[in-house]
Amino acid sequence: MHGIRSLVSLALLGWASAQQSIAFGPAFSLGPTKSWIREATTTLVLPKAPSPQKDRLALWPGMGTSNGDLIQALAVSFSDPAANCGARAGQWCTWASTLQGSQLGGKQVPASGGDKLVMAYKFNDSTGKYDQTVTVNGKVVSSLSTSSGQAQGWGTAVEAQDQASKSVVAAHQYLDTTIILNSADLTFRDTLRLTDADSSGLTTSDNGKTWKVTTINIHQHSF
Ligand SMILES: *[C@@H]1O[C@H](CO)[C@@H](O)[C@H](O)[C@H]1NC(C)=O
Repeated sequence: MHGIRSLVSLALLGWASAQQSIAFGPAFSLGPTKSWIREATTTLVLPKAPSPQKDRLALWPGMGTSNGDLIQALAVSFSDPAANCGARAGQWCTWASTLQGSQLGGKQVPASGGDKLVMAYKFNDSTGKYDQTVTVNGKVVSSLSTSSGQAQGWGTAVEAQDQASKSVVAAHQYLDTTIILNSADLTFRDTLRLTDADSSGLTTSDNGKTWKVTTINIHQHSF
């Protein structure tokens, strides 16, 4: 497959982008936590793909980990959607993915603007891996499990590579985000950073172990 050499530019997740052909837009970012993240689930409501479609524009919710991995289920707009996942013009490709030196990935499948992509990451105690799934309209379409250490932060990204760095990316939402820590960390709330984004706010009903955000609004962005 075509590698998405993604690097989180957000220092909060522990990385700095070293590639000049990569630009980052709006973001909602949490972390690092004093604990670690056992589970994170969100629903990305896909916007319309940029028009024209250029290589490559990626939307993803990611988790930076203690190993230096980036767990990042992807939705990517390619200039040639058919060549990448059999998608029609105007569609996205989505798949489970982890950046671990190279870009590991599950099956790539087409998705359309308006689709709800549930992107879920769950630490599996019996394997020590994070099990990742992408569910489109109720059906698991792509999965991947990686030994990645422990996740320290969670954040959304709008990432433009190469020609896509002259695109306009439509506003979009992440709904019903739930992040479950290994142990309570009330300071997690203080790590929230918003860049051209807003949210309904972070709530916890168990004193800092489980965190919920009903709505994250990522604003339209012109690269
Ligand atoms: C943990 O991973 C194993 C091996 O993939 C799988 O069979 C099992 O269902 C997973 N456990 C949970 C709780 O998902």
